[in-house]
Amino acid sequence: MWSSNTNMNGGIKDSDKLLKLKYPTLSIQSLSNYLLALHTKLRDQSTNTQEFVKYSNKLVHSLLEYTLSILPADYYDIKTIQTPCNVPFQGCSLISSISYNNNNTDNTMNSQLNLCGISIVRAGESMEFGLRSLIPDIPIGKILIQRDEFTQNKQAKLFYTKLPMNITQAKQIFLMDPMLATGGSCILAIKTLIKLGVTIQQITFINLIACPEGLQRVYAKYPQLKIVTSFVDQGLNEHCYILPGIGDYGDRYFGTVTP
Ligand code: PRP
Ligand code: URA
Repeated sequence: MWSSNTNMNGGIKDSDKLLKLKYPTLSIQSLSNYLLALHTKLRDQSTNTQEFVKYSNKLVHSLLEYTLSILPADYYDIKTIQTPCNVPFQGCSLISSISYNNNNTDNTMNSQLNLCGISIVRAGESMEFGLRSLIPDIPIGKILIQRDEFTQNKQAKLFYTKLPMNITQAKQIFLMDPMLATGGSCILAIKTLIKLGVTIQQITFINLIACPEGLQRVYAKYPQLKIVTSFVDQGLNEHCYILPGIGDYGDRYFGTVTP
């Protein structure tokens, strides 16, 4: 049996420390016992669809909060407010997703896109609600990519894209997919964005479960890509599924296969 190699005080696995040394732009969320308990529920084959959605939402919310917490300072504006005790409090606020050059919010030609999300459909859609709950006005584009289950290496195929109009101006694009297995889907999504004029510096790939093979393949192609993940698993099986893994995330989240 593979162990998650965490002690009950939580923290960073030894294998993660090495990965972070190897890939400087990789961020792995520190694993508290609470997060480990959520992973345990989510990965359990006896967890039904309703529970899977519940635990997925909790983990995604926590991962997205972690992502926002490690954004550099220039994503925040200094802000002073008055507390109910009538005392000023100097804090900050996350820059808006969209800023407008005038007060006419319908005039999209005068708007600047600062932050946006893109989900890799289907499983990536499970992260949209969490992103919107943290940043309510964030535009969310979609890239439909599916692994071809009939190819030996589960080659990723692109079917459809629908993206915010001024995407090349975005300060940061949160590309979302809960699973990073062979890396094929992530690479194809990034290739699609780069073809449109987006730079690799503009992209943060947000992912729930990764594996060493996927990280290696993605970083070999895009060493500067920022990846934020909740957990790096042991590796892939002969069918390119992550082990210990979770099974097919999209099927489990959308209830297209029941336990
Ligand atoms: C899954 C998952 C990722 C991809 C990861 O999608 O959601 O997009 O596989 O695998 P990779 O790193 O080997 O490309 P899948 O194609 O099964 O579609 P789904 O989201 O509809 O389940
Ligand atoms: N996609 C999934 O949903 N699960 C895996 O283990 C690999 C790819």
